[in-house]
Amino acid sequence: MSEEKQLAFETRALHCDGHGKPMHAHVWPIFQTSSFVFDSPEHGRALFAGEQQGHIYSRLGNPTVEALENTVKELEGGHASFAFGSGMGAITCSTMPFLHAGEHIIVGDTLYGCTVDLFHEHFHQYALEVTAVDTSSMDAIKSAWKPNTKMIYLETPANPTNKISDIGEIAKFAHERNALVVVDGTFSSPYFLKPLKLGADMALHSVTKYISGHGDVVAGVLTVTTEDQAKICRGWRKVTGGLLGPQDAFLVLRGIRTLQIRMERIQQTALTLAKWLHDHPAIEKVNHPGLEDFPGHDIAMKQMSGVGGTFSFTMRGGYEAAKRLLEEVKICTVCVSLGSVDTLIEHPASMTHACVPEELMIKQGLTKNMVRISVGLENVEDLKADLAQALEKCEKPKA
Ligand SMILES: Cc1ncc(COP(=O)(O)O)c(C=O)c1O
Repeated sequence: MSEEKQLAFETRALHCDGHGKPMHAHVWPIFQTSSFVFDSPEHGRALFAGEQQGHIYSRLGNPTVEALENTVKELEGGHASFAFGSGMGAITCSTMPFLHAGEHIIVGDTLYGCTVDLFHEHFHQYALEVTAVDTSSMDAIKSAWKPNTKMIYLETPANPTNKISDIGEIAKFAHERNALVVVDGTFSSPYFLKPLKLGADMALHSVTKYISGHGDVVAGVLTVTTEDQAKICRGWRKVTGGLLGPQDAFLVLRGIRTLQIRMERIQQTALTLAKWLHDHPAIEKVNHPGLEDFPGHDIAMKQMSGVGGTFSFTMRGGYEAAKRLLEEVKICTVCVSLGSVDTLIEHPASMTHACVPEELMIKQGLTKNMVRISVGLENVEDLKADLAQALEKCEKPKA
């Protein structure tokens, strides 16, 4: 693929799963098989001994899943990618096998709810020390640093406030101290953000979101930059068993074929809506990195080639208004997840981030009057009209 590395993203998204597919298939077939047949006992022995390359058992590797992994590896510009049955599987693999009891991890104070839960409710069971900081501030990272800090983990843009952290600056600081940097880039997809090119050691995505893009798969992918990291991930996934199934890998591969065109259109619609909401009397604040008055705007413009379609906003009418908005929308679907072809709307404080401890919610500005929207491919005027009619009702008492 080295000559294809020069090709544009959309061309690579269509072609980097490789030519010469099995049985002359045009698209990758679904290898729906648990095991692979050995030619002879000697063949089986050699495969297990690592003396020959080949497939053994689908928990260890499956051709359809590998086609997806190779595609993501090329799009991220990494050394190897690992597909999991969920984004949380990728997050667990990016952290747990890389940390040892007694070590310290600095994590962003704004992360997806279950990621917060993993770090704050479970890591202490393994004697891992966790400090949550505002990763948009280098001073905050510097003050949280300890002699046993081994990793910085962050989301940028972060869910749900779109907080932006400077990956290059953070990676420089961490690498001078021999620590790893892991970035969850779910909100922007590899089309708009390339964390590894900016210096991160590992990049991951909830593939459930933009990468698959149709709201019909739960999956995750982790991309690493060295063979040592790849060996750790291979070993971890083999024994913890989180490999993605081949049917889901097939659906994700299909989604990737339109990633670029979806992201471009979604970005355009989301920015139009964010600007319109920004000036709407029922709205207090809009958290969208494309808005010039958004705190992380300049860094977002520097490190991303575009901004995604998921953003949050707060309602002047408080929690009641946020709830009413969700009750009144007709085209936007009230549903968690994001990155689908259709527009989804939710209330982070009581849904995706309900498990975040209250003091962390306050620290990151996740208020009860906040609504998160993941803009889809509907016509922008239809979405605006839907939100406008619902917002109008939020300003009036319920009949
Ligand atoms: C930013 C982010 N990372 C990770 C996850 C977890 O992904 P999954 O639900 O695929 O396990 C989510 C889920 O919403 C998310 O929003």
